[in-house]
Amino acid sequence: MARNPRSRGAARLGSLRFSVSTVPADSFREDVIAGLSLPQKSLPPKYFYDAGGSRLFEAICRLKEYYPTRAELALTRRHIGAIARFAGVGGTLIEYGSGASTKSPLLIGALRPTAYIPVDISDAALRKTSAKLRRRFTRLDILAVHGDFSQPLKIPMAQAKGRRVVYFPGSTIGNLTPEEAQAFLRTTRGQVGPKGAMLVGVDLKKDANLLHAAYNDAKGVTAAFNLNLLARINRELRGDFRLRQFRHYAFYNAALGRIEMHLVSLKAQTVNVGNHRFAFDTGESIHTENSYKYSIDGFRALAASAGFRGEKVWLDPRGMFSLHGLTAI
Ligand SMILES: C[S@@+](CC[C@H](N)C(=O)[O-])C[C@H]1O[C@@H](n2cnc3c(N)ncnc32)[C@H](O)[C@@H]1O
Repeated sequence: MARNPRSRGAARLGSLRFSVSTVPADSFREDVIAGLSLPQKSLPPKYFYDAGGSRLFEAICRLKEYYPTRAELALTRRHIGAIARFAGVGGTLIEYGSGASTKSPLLIGALRPTAYIPVDISDAALRKTSAKLRRRFTRLDILAVHGDFSQPLKIPMAQAKGRRVVYFPGSTIGNLTPEEAQAFLRTTRGQVGPKGAMLVGVDLKKDANLLHAAYNDAKGVTAAFNLNLLARINRELRGDFRLRQFRHYAFYNAALGRIEMHLVSLKAQTVNVGNHRFAFDTGESIHTENSYKYSIDGFRALAASAGFRGEKVWLDPRGMFSLHGLTAI
């Protein structure tokens, strides 16, 4: 008798699809002009991640000084059974800022979701990583979303089966101000619904010397990552930043509980971006990134203000980094 390939026992293959990009084409230009026009010049960190920036970030993750990736990977490996029990199996896993999805294979392996929805602003990283995961998890449905999570973003929830779990690793939440983080958590609370859950990787407050080393590595990879933003402006927006006349500067602002990254002008100069001209004094900086550090209770309070209960928290053996398991209140 001929065997029906759809009959019980036949392995069902998963799929890989890309949703239509929702990243507006002109927002980079508008945000750069607006940011460089402020009294304290600033640029949104989401623009670090062109293809080159995403590669540099992956190189940062391998640096000996940059503890967050190793610590988060270690705690995920160590507690993966408990994480899976908390999140549940067979649901839908939505990952914001998935990047190279370093920790996601552990989660996908343990949670065995029916669908995985990675969301990233870096099209290059999203495509590369999704293809890699597709080869590894052949039965998984992957729906990759090229989008900006700081804007209203439609996640194709029609694909979502079972419990919805949002995964937000890598301390990316630290790049948002506490007010932005609260708004983001509120949005995801709406997305996961009353039975959903969230797993958030949060960097912890610690000795400022360790923080300082992590953002000022000896090889200068973080400096290259920071300066790549100016190179991107030159390339994509007809800018004429002279990269040698700016220097990477990162420090821990203890009063605000955050690392600040800046690019400091080494001399008085003017810079053109398209038809716009910006004057810099010697020592004047462009503020390019914040990375907020939280206490466990501090993050739980933030999550509670957005409608989540902090049910679980997992730490790496050195207590450097935390993964919070949140459920809807
Ligand atoms: C700090 S990296 C973390 C990467 C990865 N999740 C990890 O744990 O190593 C931030 C990631 O979020 C993405 N990203 C940053 N801002 C974004 C935004 N507004 N919308 C979507 N993705 C964003 C970047 O492209 C990058 O992949």
